[in-house]
Amino acid sequence: MQFFVYHTPELTPTNSLPDCAIAIDVLRATTTIATALHAGAEAVQAFSDINKLMARSDSWPAEKRLRAGERGGKQVEGCDMGNSPLFCTKERVKDKRLFLSTTNGTRALQRIENAPVVLTAAQVNRRAAVEYLRQKQPETVWLVGSGWQGDYSLEDTVCAGAIALPFYQENTEIIGNDEVLGAISLYDRWQDKLVDLFCQASHGKRLLGLNLRDDLEYCAKTDILDILPMQTEKGVIKAV
Ligand code: MLT
Repeated sequence: MQFFVYHTPELTPTNSLPDCAIAIDVLRATTTIATALHAGAEAVQAFSDINKLMARSDSWPAEKRLRAGERGGKQVEGCDMGNSPLFCTKERVKDKRLFLSTTNGTRALQRIENAPVVLTAAQVNRRAAVEYLRQKQPETVWLVGSGWQGDYSLEDTVCAGAIALPFYQENTEIIGNDEVLGAISLYDRWQDKLVDLFCQASHGKRLLGLNLRDDLEYCAKTDILDILPMQTEKGVIKAV
């Protein structure tokens, strides 16, 4: 296996595809996706364009849908929820489809949607992603961070490192680009202090400014959800 880390959708190559691509948006889209599916949501359907989300979800039975829209950390007007994983309780999401549009995470997903296998990962379900990779042994793996509007983010990089580290410990040849070792080193340094790291991250500070510390603390929890979100058709993610 060879791992490649791309920090943002913009830095992700457009002229090739890996065997397996994993979108990461720890704060908070891929944490929300894992949490919603773990709580029994039927699927998460991702849109980078909020107007397309509204149009597509209109044709879905109202009692079977939740519109989740976030921009700048805040809930988009007209949506049922923002992008808080803590909103995704069983009572609220079971058997419903979450129509989700966020500032960066859904763009990262869209960027890799043509890969033969598309997964989403966050700290909360990191182990499930690692186990999948161990089992399937895809030749090339892209770990694609969402960043923030084209910029690097600490939280996505540290999660990429958390996924790659167990493979690197067994075989240093898994490094496909320099970003992988950078991500592993970041995780190695901060793994016991993820909340502290997230509090210093630019989007972490933004969430703290919106009084969303509970979200931030939840997103830092590692391996608490045994769920692997996988794209089953373009933009549609289900639990496998
Ligand atoms: C994003 O897509 O940028 C996020 O998930 C932002 C957030 O909801 O905190």
